[in-house]
Amino acid sequence: MNQPNSALGTPDYGLDAPGVVRNLFIIGAVGLLLWGSTALGIWSGEEVLGPIAGVNVLLPVGTIGLCGGLGCSMMGIWMVWSSKLGKIKTREGLLSHISWAGDEQVLDIGCGRGLMLVGAAKRLTTGKAIGIDKWQEEDLANNCREQFTYWTEQQRGMLWANMR
Ligand SMILES: C[S@@+](CC[C@H](N)C(=O)[O-])C[C@H]1O[C@@H](n2cnc3c(N)ncnc32)[C@H](O)[C@@H]1O
Repeated sequence: MNQPNSALGTPDYGLDAPGVVRNLFIIGAVGLLLWGSTALGIWSGEEVLGPIAGVNVLLPVGTIGLCGGLGCSMMGIWMVWSSKLGKIKTREGLLSHISWAGDEQVLDIGCGRGLMLVGAAKRLTTGKAIGIDKWQEEDLANNCREQFTYWTEQQRGMLWANMR
């Protein structure tokens, strides 16, 4: 394995669903550009859908762009925050509900870069935490065994990640 990334600073458990995050930012940018072009007066921001039941229906493309663009951008920002900080807080909250004796045998299926597995292993003294995964790239950025955050293994010799 390579040098563990967490030994160099804050553990990095990877960006969840990187393709989804990328698409949210692309859609967000397109929406905001549409709205911006109407705000700058480049075009009206409205498309005529044609008369429906005798009524001229207008599609407010600029407004839809603003709402969609803001919504998608905010969702993208939230997903980045959640991946970098939020999920570590959530992990600590979840694991704190367990009364750890320290001798547990923990199995994390779909451990990715070790978020839950490392959190559990930190609470063990004589127990063992095992993670299995097939490291799908679309689920987690840089999702591979080499990126596994395994400093606990080095520090305590009890965290193991096994290839499926
Ligand atoms: C969204 S990631 C979550 C990773 C980690 N548990 C976390 O919270 O950061 C889901 C993980 O499940 C893994 N996974 C999905 N299907 C799997 C399967 N059939 N067998 C093993 N791992 C799988 C993916 O490779 C990915 O690492």
